[in-house]
Amino acid sequence: MKNYGNDNKSALQAKFDAQKIAFGPIMFQAAKSLRDLGILDYLMKTRRKGATIEETAEALKLPVYGVKVLLEAAISLEMVMVRDDRFFITKTGYFLLSDKLTKVNMDFTHDVNYLGMFHLQDSIKNGKPEGLKVFGEWNTVYEALSELPEKVRESWFGFDHYYSDVAFPEVLPIIFNEGVKKIMDVGGNTGKFSIECAKYSDDVEVTILDLPGQLKDAEKNIKAHGFEDRINLHAINLLDASAPFPKGHNAIWMSQFLDCFSQEEILTLLKRAYDALDDDGALYILETYWDMQQFEASTYSLHATTLYFTALANGNSQMYHSDDMRKLLKKSGLVIEKEFENIGVSHTLFKCRKS
Ligand SMILES: C[S@@+](CC[C@H](N)C(=O)[O-])C[C@H]1O[C@@H](n2cnc3c(N)ncnc32)[C@H](O)[C@@H]1O
Repeated sequence: MKNYGNDNKSALQAKFDAQKIAFGPIMFQAAKSLRDLGILDYLMKTRRKGATIEETAEALKLPVYGVKVLLEAAISLEMVMVRDDRFFITKTGYFLLSDKLTKVNMDFTHDVNYLGMFHLQDSIKNGKPEGLKVFGEWNTVYEALSELPEKVRESWFGFDHYYSDVAFPEVLPIIFNEGVKKIMDVGGNTGKFSIECAKYSDDVEVTILDLPGQLKDAEKNIKAHGFEDRINLHAINLLDASAPFPKGHNAIWMSQFLDCFSQEEILTLLKRAYDALDDDGALYILETYWDMQQFEASTYSLHATTLYFTALANGNSQMYHSDDMRKLLKKSGLVIEKEFENIGVSHTLFKCRKS
C-alpha cells in the first residue's frame, strides 16, 4: 500500500476532532432529527430572514425545548449559523436536507447499521456479522434481505441502487460496443442492470445469478417490463465454491458484487467466471475502490461502508483497495485489458480477459 494520511494538524485541532468522534453518534442523531422533524426544511423556506427558536417551534408544532436543543447542536454541527437570535441554514445544512447522496447514506447508516454497529467489536473478533442479529438469525445480510423489515429493506436498496443506477448508463455503451449477445449478471439482485441491458439491446439474452430471495423480486420486475423471454433466472448460492457458473456467455458482469466476499471467496468466484467465460469473452467488474477516489468524501464514505460489511453484511468483506483486486485477478488467470475510471459517483470498471 502507498502512503496515506498525515499527522500535520495542531494538537488543538486534533483534540477537537477527537471530540467529534467521541460524540459522533449523538450528533448524528441530532442531525437526523433536524432533517426528519422538518426543522431544516423550515430554515430553508425562511432562509432570507432566518427564524427564531420560538417561530420554528410554532410553525412545526414542536416543543420550544426540543427545537432549542436541536438548533443549538446544529451550531456545532455547522448546519446553521445565528445572527441576532435568528437561525440561518448553512451549506452543510442544505446538503443534509436536499442532497440525495447524503440522504441515502444517512438513511443507510440509521436504518440498516445504527443498532448493529453496537456489535462491531465482536464482529471484528469473531469474523462474523454479529450486528445482523438485531434483525434476526442469519449468516449473511444477503440471506436476510428479502425478510428484513420494510424500512430497512428500503434504505438498503436505496443505498445500493443510488450508486449503481447512475453508473449503469455509462457502462452499457462500453459493453455493447463489442456486440455482446449473451451476458451473465452475477449477483444481479432485483434485475435492474439486466432490464437496462434488455432495453439497450433488442437481441441480448441475460442470465441473472443470485440467491432465491432476490430472484423473487427480480422476477416481478422482469415481468413488469415484459422481458421474461430474454432474461433468465439462475438461483445459486455463490458461496458454494463447487457450484459452477453456467457456460456459454460472451460477457460476465459483476457490479458492486465482489465487495460482498472475502478475498478467498473472490478468488473462487473469479476462477469460476474464468471457467464459464467464452475464450474471446470479457469479464466486467464494476467496483468502488477506496484508493481510486477523486474526492476525500468518497474515500471517507467507502471506509465507513466497509464496516457495514464487517458488522452487518458478512463479517469478512469490504470496499477494497484496487491492488487487492488486481492481485486476485492475476491469481485467477485473468488480465485487466482496460480500466475505465470515474464511472458514476465513485466506480471503476475493469474489463478483463482470459490470459
Ligand atoms: C450489493 S448487491 C449488488 C447488486 C447489483 N449487482 C448492483 O450493482 O446494484 C450484491 C448482490 O450479490 C448477491 N449475493 C451476495 N451473496 C450471494 C451468494 N452467496 N449467492 C448468490 N448471490 C449472492 C446479493 O443477493 C445481491 O443481490
